[in-house]
Amino acid sequence: MRIDKLLSQLKYGSRKKIAELISQNRIKVNGKTINKKDMDVNPNIDEIYVDNEKVFYQKYVYLAFNKPKGFLSANKDDLHPVLFSFIKEPYNRFDLKVCGRLDLDSEGLMILTNDGSFIHMITHPKTHLPKKYEVKLNREVCMNEVNQLLQGVFIKDGKNETYLAKALKLKCNKDTCYITIDEGKFHQVKRMFAFVNYDVIKLKRVQIGPLLLGDLKPGEHKVIGRELFYDGNYVDGV
Ligand code: URA
Repeated sequence: MRIDKLLSQLKYGSRKKIAELISQNRIKVNGKTINKKDMDVNPNIDEIYVDNEKVFYQKYVYLAFNKPKGFLSANKDDLHPVLFSFIKEPYNRFDLKVCGRLDLDSEGLMILTNDGSFIHMITHPKTHLPKKYEVKLNREVCMNEVNQLLQGVFIKDGKNETYLAKALKLKCNKDTCYITIDEGKFHQVKRMFAFVNYDVIKLKRVQIGPLLLGDLKPGEHKVIGRELFYDGNYVDGV
């Protein structure tokens, strides 16, 4: 790949800016200062430095992220702060996308990646990837009421179409429930609890398939491996 293309993809600046850096002798490849903006490099093998800072490269990046409440699962928004402001070097140099959104007022586990095929597999309805949520409700739970969620309840999706939403697992104590579902329709958990007459006052995603939120603090991210999702139990090739 051309060095100017690579570095501009990694957000070191426009191709014009990279040409400028090269003419100012600020870029080195394998220990040598380079002078050609169209030099061919292999970012997996070659050691590239910009201003004595080593360039980090991986074709695909996968991050687990704990989204704090009040941040949008979007790349940009004029109204609300977005979660991408939390992503630190070198991962903020990649065009990461969210793998399954959370509402503005929800928090917890998200996966961010630049691997489109992974996003497709993880979010495809046929994958049936279980997701577990910790839900705080507006009142103490009556199990007779919430047990309906295990049988399935008819709620509306984002397109106002009715569908049967079913909890795979449900465990409650006082005003808090852990619910596992394998879909991700618009406001699904809130709408399921609304159907049985509860308001969700706090919603936190604590697990996506085999991945646990664990002790990741709000706003923190950590690198994960794609292979975690390919043990045969979770993704069987949609
Ligand atoms: N269900 C919801 O209602 N909101 C979320 O953010 C995620 C699941």
